[in-house]
Amino acid sequence: MLIEEEHALDEIKHICFQELNRGAKARKHPFRFVTLALAYQNKPSSRWVVHRKFTAEQHVLIFTDNRSDKMKALKANPEASLLYYHDRHSLQLRLEGKITIHHQNEISRKYWPGVKGSGAKDYISVLPPGTPIKSPTAAFNWSDDLDDTHFVVLEFKTESLDVLQLNRGRHIRALFNKTENGWEGSFLVP
Ligand SMILES: Cc1cc2nc3c(=O)[nH]c(=O)nc-3n(C[C@H](O)[C@H](O)[C@H](O)COP(=O)(O)O)c2cc1C
Repeated sequence: MLIEEEHALDEIKHICFQELNRGAKARKHPFRFVTLALAYQNKPSSRWVVHRKFTAEQHVLIFTDNRSDKMKALKANPEASLLYYHDRHSLQLRLEGKITIHHQNEISRKYWPGVKGSGAKDYISVLPPGTPIKSPTAAFNWSDDLDDTHFVVLEFKTESLDVLQLNRGRHIRALFNKTENGWEGSFLVP
């Protein structure tokens, strides 16, 4: 267990932020992947993404292809939710917030060199993600230019954090809301 009954709200918040930070740095950390939920035309949709960075402002950075379906949803509605589960410590975190899209701007250009060196293929397919094809190999066609035309950094600006620590019948739950002066927290019935 990461969160104990003796912990004050501030300690709980600190532990959660620390784990979110570790999730972006340690490849094997369970917070390395997160489900991103969006709504499009009143329908929910979720997908796994890589939790790339947890910033000093408690924002989460995610990389994607500007042509993907999630971008249609996001352009119509920036509201999003991120869901994490640390299986070893039985800890669930649910973040809610709004996403800002960074495409061919200072932020996306800052991260592109790192992507270019390793995972650029994910953002330079000739056919846009989600295109219907006759066989899987029809997708294996990439642009020769390693350029950032389709590369997008999503900046999830956290507004609330719902923490659930499972513990055999003595679960602990807390909710934190971001305000102008920092974070306001409260315990909740699990
Ligand atoms: C473990 C895992 C990690 C993934 N990471 C990303 C990611 O960082 N960015 C991304 O755009 N898609 C990622 N995907 C693929 C998405 O889950 C999804 O299939 C794809 O982005 C298309 O989603 P969309 O149609 O909602 O845009 C990942 C999938 C898995 C299983």
